[in-house]
Amino acid sequence: MLAGLGGWLPPRIVDNDELSRHLDTSDEWIRTRTGIGQRHVVDPGMSTVDMAVEAGRRALHSAGSRDVDALVLATATPDQICPASAPQVASRLGLGNIAAFDVNAVCSGFVYALATAAGLISAGAACSVLMVGADAFTTLLNPKDRGTVPIFGDGAGAVVLRAGEPDELGAMGPFDLHSDGDLAELLIVPAGGAKQKTSDNPEDHYFSMQGPAVFRHATARMAESSRTVMERAGWTVSDVDRFIGHQANIRILHATAKQLGLPADSLVVNIERTGNTSAASIPLAMVDAVNDGTLQAGDRVLVSAFGAGLTWGATALRWPDITPG
Ligand code: ACO
Repeated sequence: MLAGLGGWLPPRIVDNDELSRHLDTSDEWIRTRTGIGQRHVVDPGMSTVDMAVEAGRRALHSAGSRDVDALVLATATPDQICPASAPQVASRLGLGNIAAFDVNAVCSGFVYALATAAGLISAGAACSVLMVGADAFTTLLNPKDRGTVPIFGDGAGAVVLRAGEPDELGAMGPFDLHSDGDLAELLIVPAGGAKQKTSDNPEDHYFSMQGPAVFRHATARMAESSRTVMERAGWTVSDVDRFIGHQANIRILHATAKQLGLPADSLVVNIERTGNTSAASIPLAMVDAVNDGTLQAGDRVLVSAFGAGLTWGATALRWPDITPG
């Protein structure tokens, strides 16, 4: 069950007007096409591990206990390609020699890692798990690319899962997870990995995205996966109090809600102040929604994400009585 929640954003804020001074874009274009007004950005020297530690600390505080026996970090921007970053997060948090590993499902990372954490508990491999979604996605972007720079921001969000009863508030699941590697090229950093370590073309080291195609897949897949989860949970659309989708684009969220037949006021949206923070976007939206009273104990919550890979998935829970740390 969900027992703790926390989020952290780097202090530096870059608004649309500041971006428009360096890129051929405008506040008006970014707001109307994406719903984004500003994003938080890491300063040089600040890393994914730094952000994950801050969010993790807040989630442990929210849970009221530091007693966790595994840490799962969802990230596509580990501090180094090897090793995984999760062990460094666990050490920095003083959690001892607990199990710690990364899950890379890019913007679907939170839902994938949540399923992984819940699975560790179901399998008896852990009683309590700290799950952090953290990405310094701006470090992957070509500063000259107006197709990606306005969209992404940096940040971290975290939850603590504990063993519990299936009918308790905060009980996790069902889950639905999918991928389609045939479409990997739609969102990719071509160089830097084992296939092509370096490239003479500097652009190959940056994240490239075919935005309009991604938009269509994101909407269709998030809706499809949400329907599957509702069916497995025995919910109809009218049972859903809140829909928390990956904060990629406000138009994607509205289009997904429309496909599902969900009213627009059931959407949890914080993209205006964060941009797309990849694996951190859903827990950061949860923190804001609890703090502003949008999300309340007992609410039936549908969660869905979509990301590079391609990957997508969804889950559902009844919201527990927790205060973000
Ligand atoms: N400022 C001004 N104009 C722009 C900008 C910009 N930043 N970017 C593109 N344009 C122009 C284009 O050149 C084009 O001009 P044209 O009509 O003269 O050719 C016009 O705006 C429309 O461009 P599109 O790319 O078709 O714009 P679209 O409405 O599709 O919005 C966007 C682009 C915001 C990227 C959208 O496609 C989107 O959000 N896609 C999904 C992205 C996404 O979800 N990514 C995250 C996936 S998760 C992960 O794992 C990383």
